[in-house]
Amino acid sequence: MDAFLLKGPSRLQGSVRISGAKNAALPALAASLLTKEPVRLSGIPQVADLRTMETLLRGMGVSIEANGPEEATLRAEPVTSTEAPYDLVRTMRASILVLGPLVARFGEARVSLPGGCAIGVRPVDLHVKALEAMGARIAVEKGYIHAHVSRVGAHRGRLTGTVIAFPTVTVTGTENVMLAASLARGVTRIENAAMEPEVVDLARLLGRMGAQISGAGTSTLEIEGVESLGGAEHAIVPDRIEAGTYLAAGAITRGDVTAENARAEDLGAFLEALRNAGVEVTAADGSIRVVARDGLSPVDVETLPFPGFPTDLQAQLLALMTQANGTSRITETIFENRFLHASELVRLGADIRIEGHTAIVSGPRRLEGAVVTASDLRASAALVLAGLVAEGETLVRRIYHLDRGYSGMDRKLAALGARVERVAG
Ligand code: EPU
Repeated sequence: MDAFLLKGPSRLQGSVRISGAKNAALPALAASLLTKEPVRLSGIPQVADLRTMETLLRGMGVSIEANGPEEATLRAEPVTSTEAPYDLVRTMRASILVLGPLVARFGEARVSLPGGCAIGVRPVDLHVKALEAMGARIAVEKGYIHAHVSRVGAHRGRLTGTVIAFPTVTVTGTENVMLAASLARGVTRIENAAMEPEVVDLARLLGRMGAQISGAGTSTLEIEGVESLGGAEHAIVPDRIEAGTYLAAGAITRGDVTAENARAEDLGAFLEALRNAGVEVTAADGSIRVVARDGLSPVDVETLPFPGFPTDLQAQLLALMTQANGTSRITETIFENRFLHASELVRLGADIRIEGHTAIVSGPRRLEGAVVTASDLRASAALVLAGLVAEGETLVRRIYHLDRGYSGMDRKLAALGARVERVAG
């Protein structure tokens, strides 16, 4: 298994180009299932989760032709299977995103139930209930969700628009309903919809395919279903979480880092936290620069759905706060078990106490290199950030978690001046 060997401390300096967003590319690829016509996407990040989504779609008969390293044309004609098998869904929960498109276009789908995951239980009940409300009959048998729309009676094989009021904000739940509703009969209104930039990006792609969607980026979405959707060309929005991670790397190393292809409007709460910590942040058109000098201040932050502070940057902020002068409180409200990185950071010398859903971090602490083990994607990023400033060698094991969502992180960090190597370990 691959590991990262970091030699610290280092100071990062320079520019890094941010890839397209993993969490926008995943639903965009799933959207190709909605049409017979070609969907051409650019800005597909070279990360393991996208390869998993491609394998899943190919297994259904979708042809995927690479037009360049980050560009592909997808053609979902013919679709030979409407099944998402356990072996793939197990490795990537976002596989659930094929459920909505399959039921909407073919009136049936068989998708393995995702299991638990390191950061929490993460059920998909809200996806299932929403599709049921739209007329799908759903049964869970032998670990699979079987969804079916009756070909006789009122539905005639097509989902029907309705009001879906989500009790909690769910990103992929909102996306699944958008995908399904685009081909449903009538109007679907989603209340308490996710407002994340990735949701807005999906609305943009679906709009280009001919869907009628209004309200994207607000908490109420309206989708008027159409009979069929066409092909489209679409560039995936930049990855705000990848950008935030490199900006945090700049800040923790007291460096000067510019994220190119990054949108400050997608990172408002995170940039505000950095500014409150005393980091100089300058946003220009399409890039964000951080300059951090000595003396970071502690910050109190709570993770929330967009536009709140993203849970996907919580671990990175926690790593940064180990270097601040004083006590920070970081509260996780989205996932119940997303502090697995804390005990690994403590092994590097951090002072972190978990009280319920809050991590209390006291700094600054001098970190010292050690062997640490990554538990999930963003936890891995936090350990890498800590490894950049820890004295001596830090070996971050199980880097396959990192490879799921960060494209060439070792290469990008090395270009900024980090001493990092991918090794077996
Ligand atoms: N929830 C339910 N039932 C559902 C769906 C969600 O109870 O049917 C709960 C979840 O357990 C969680 C909360 O609702 O407590 C919010 O979860 P959400 O559904 O929004 O998460 P998700 O759609 O599964 C996406 C991202 C995650 C990101 C979260 C929150 C993708 C592919 N994944 O997950 O990204 O953390 O939204 O912003 O878009 C990552 O990239 O590292 C990652 C985990």
